[in-house]
Amino acid sequence: DKVVLAYSGGLDTSVIVRWLQETYDCEVVTFTADIGQGEEVEPARAKAEALGVKEIYIDDLREEYVRDFVFPMFRANTIYEGEYLLGTSIARPLIAKRLIEIANETGADAISHGATGKGNDQVRFELGAYALKPGIQVIAPWREWDLTSREKLMQYCEQHKIPVDFSSGKKKSPYSMDANLLHISYEGGLLEDPWAEAEEDMWRWSVSPEAAPDQATYITLTFEQGDPVAIDGERMSPATLLEKLNKLGGANGIGRLDIVENRYVGMKSRGCYETPGGTILLKARRAIESITLDREVAHMKDELMPRYAKLIYNGYWWSPERRMLQAAIDESQQVVNGEVRLKLYKGSVSAVGRRSADSLFDERIATFEEDAGAYDQKDAEGFIKLNALRLRIAAGKGRNLI
Ligand code: ARG
Ligand code: SIN
Repeated sequence: DKVVLAYSGGLDTSVIVRWLQETYDCEVVTFTADIGQGEEVEPARAKAEALGVKEIYIDDLREEYVRDFVFPMFRANTIYEGEYLLGTSIARPLIAKRLIEIANETGADAISHGATGKGNDQVRFELGAYALKPGIQVIAPWREWDLTSREKLMQYCEQHKIPVDFSSGKKKSPYSMDANLLHISYEGGLLEDPWAEAEEDMWRWSVSPEAAPDQATYITLTFEQGDPVAIDGERMSPATLLEKLNKLGGANGIGRLDIVENRYVGMKSRGCYETPGGTILLKARRAIESITLDREVAHMKDELMPRYAKLIYNGYWWSPERRMLQAAIDESQQVVNGEVRLKLYKGSVSAVGRRSADSLFDERIATFEEDAGAYDQKDAEGFIKLNALRLRIAAGKGRNLI
């Protein structure tokens, strides 16, 4: 028996390695991915070796993550419950996919992960795994074992000779955190009181808007078929570009969020997020779409977006309905080309200019000055009268009188 574990190299997943070996008497294959969490992944190799793991996978998935998951999601201008940019949600389907690929390569019949039984992540990992390999077995230690506290975990380490410096050496943060190229998240600890404001030193990726420079920063983003391809004219890869936007946004106090959200499992949860690059990208994408998309296409995208967001939040990336929506969204993006000029200033990002060879904006039609004849103001009279017809009929029946 063989099981592929999503392994961070941290204390919790190191305990899981040993626990799987003992409880299931199985061979554990570890998989550690760099998706831009900002921590070295190589140290996971020595740690896995020390736990007797023979097959160790360490992958750099940063480009694939941004190109095939983050950017496709952003094409829909996706936001969950009006605020959350889905930074954790969108990383899970990629992890699920790699777990299954590795299971196929190594002949493993099970996968395992370190998500708890109370959250969204378990759902996302497992829905993805089942969608990609229907016969896969799933082992979720947090739903099975009785290591329910920090102390019990440490005890387990002692009994099973797991070096405690596996907890990465640093002081354990009071928050449950998750990071990748799109965001860093904080949950738990002080945040469990939804009235309590997060402490300033919790935030790791951004300065506070108050501490941001008094001078605005201007940048220009270039788009091709809905995806950003260059900053200030300099072309760069998806991961490089998002990383650069994170730096620019973070330095200007952009992208902090403090919300209470509805988890798929039914509970409400308080979370804080920093999504500096994503916040800039969303503003820029809306600006480039504002001149390139047909009105009804844009409005239909906006109507579908909350459903698309919910699919991703709830873990249905690898579902037929997500693919169907994606096809429609991608089709709309062929004309989304051009440039947006942005102003970053003390926690805010505004689009201050937009231009495109595919622009539908026609100055000659929109002008308040005398126009070139493409629009005849007299036509508006009939347009309004016919639209008013049913209102007038209803009023004639006395339905609308004040
Ligand atoms: N609440 C967010 C979500 O469901 C973030 C979850 C963070 N996950 C974690 N393992 N700390 O997408
Ligand atoms: C967890 O429970 O593992 C993290 C939070 C979540 O998945 O929503």
